Amino acid sequence: MDKIKIRGGKPLEGKIFISGAKNAALPLICASLLTDETVTLTNMPMLSDIKAMNALLQQLGTKINDFDDFVDGHATKTYSYRTKDIESLTAPYDYVRKMRASYYVLGPLLARFGKCELSLPGGCAIGARPMDIHLSSLEKMGAKIEIKNGYIYAQSDGRLKGTHILFSGVSVGATCNLLMAAVLAEGTTVLENAAKEPEIGDLAKLLNAMGAKIQGIGTSILTIEGVDKLHGAVHKIIADRIEAGSYAVAAAITRGKIELINAKSETLRQPLQVLKDMGVHIVETPNSIIVDAKGCNLVGKDIMTEPFPGFPTDLQAQFMALMLTADGASMVTETIFENRFMHVPELLRMGANINVHGHASAIVRGVKKLSGAPVMATDLRASFALVLAGLIAEGETVVNRVYHLDRGYEKLEEKLKGVGADIERVKGDDNYE
Ligand code: UD1
Repeated sequence: MDKIKIRGGKPLEGKIFISGAKNAALPLICASLLTDETVTLTNMPMLSDIKAMNALLQQLGTKINDFDDFVDGHATKTYSYRTKDIESLTAPYDYVRKMRASYYVLGPLLARFGKCELSLPGGCAIGARPMDIHLSSLEKMGAKIEIKNGYIYAQSDGRLKGTHILFSGVSVGATCNLLMAAVLAEGTTVLENAAKEPEIGDLAKLLNAMGAKIQGIGTSILTIEGVDKLHGAVHKIIADRIEAGSYAVAAAITRGKIELINAKSETLRQPLQVLKDMGVHIVETPNSIIVDAKGCNLVGKDIMTEPFPGFPTDLQAQFMALMLTADGASMVTETIFENRFMHVPELLRMGANINVHGHASAIVRGVKKLSGAPVMATDLRASFALVLAGLIAEGETVVNRVYHLDRGYEKLEEKLKGVGADIERVKGDDNYE
C-alpha cells in the first residue's frame, strides 16, 4: 500500500485548480440510469470512488466512454454513460462495501425498471449510517421493500406514485435517491425537509436538463412533477467545495497564500467565515477564492457541523488541524456523525492538545509545534487532516492508508507540490502498517 511522506515547515504559495465534486459526480453518474439515451458528464474528477461507481454501472449494463478534456485550461475527463439495455438490477455486496454511495442506484433502477436489489451498506468508520429514511420514503411512493440476507429487495408494481414526503431527518443521500425516484413517478412528489447541499442542486439541474420537472432547487422543499420518459443531456459537474475548503486550510495552516481556481464561495460561506474570524484574509474573485494567511496570527474559533448551509462535517477534521495553530481554545461540535473524531488520536501522537468529550465535542488548544510521525486514518477527510498536520510538523510525517485520500482528492501530491509542499508518494513499507 502506498504512503504519503511529508517534510513540514514550508508556507504554501501559488494556485490550485479545484476539481469536479466527487459527491456531485456519484449521484449524477447514477442519474444516467434513468434514460436509454446518452448522458455526458464533463469536469469529472479522477478518483477511485468514480472508478468504483463506473465499475458498478458497467456490471448493470451501462456502456461508458471517457475522453480527455479541458476545463478552464486544465486537463480533466469527460465521461459518457448509456444504459440502453439493463443486464442486472443487483448492486452486489462487493461493490457496496467498497463504496456506500453505490446506494444511489436504488432510486433510478426502481423508477425506470421497477426493481432493484441492493446490498445494505452497513456502518462505516464514521458512524452507523442507516438507510431507514431512503427506504421508508420509497415505501411511501408505493415501493415494496424487503430486507433479506443483507440485501434490500425493492420492487414496484408499475410506476412509483407521487406523494408528499416529510423526511424525518435531513439526509443528502435520501434526498438524492428520492429525487431520482420521483422524476419518473406518476403524479407530483413533494420532498419536504430535503437536504440543500449544492451537490443536490447539481443533480436536480442535470435531471431537469434530461427532461425532469423539478422546482424548488436549493430550498428544503422540492416539488417534482413526474414525467413518462427522460432523455440524454450534457452537464458540467460543479467544483468540489470540500476539496476547495481542504486546500483553503492548507494555505491557512502553513501561513501561506493559495488561489483556489474554480472554487465557488457561495458553496463555502461558513468555512470562509470561520477562516476570516480566525484572522485569515479571504478575497473572492469571479472564478476563484484567494486565501492569504501570510504573517497572520490566528485565534481560536468554535465550530459546529450542520447540514448545508451550516459548517460541513466533511471539513471538520481539517479545521481541527488548523485550530492547533491558533491562539487559545476552539470547541468543535460534531452533530452529523456519531464517530467522527477518529483523527484525534493520530493528531495527539504528533503533539496536539485536544480533549474529546463524549462523541460530539472536542476542545482544541493551540500548541507551539507539532512533530512528524507515522500516522494512519480511518476515513477520507481525517486522512487529509493528517496531511495538513504533516505540512507544519517538524521533521517527517508518513500518512498510511493513502487509498482513503485517493477516494476523494485528485492529484493530491501534484497539487500540493505545485504550491511548494515537500511531499511524495512512496511504495508501501510494512513497518508502518
Ligand atoms: C453525504 C456525503 C458525505 C457527507 C454527508 C453529510 C456523499 C457521497 N456523501 O453522505 O460526504 O459527510 O452527506 O453531509 O455525498 N441518516 C439516517 N438515516 C438515513 C440516512 C441518513 O439516520 O436513512 C443519518 C446519517 O447516519 C447521518 C445523517 O443522517 O447521521 C446525515 O447523513 P446523510 O446526509 O444521508 O449522509 P450521506 O448521504 O451518507
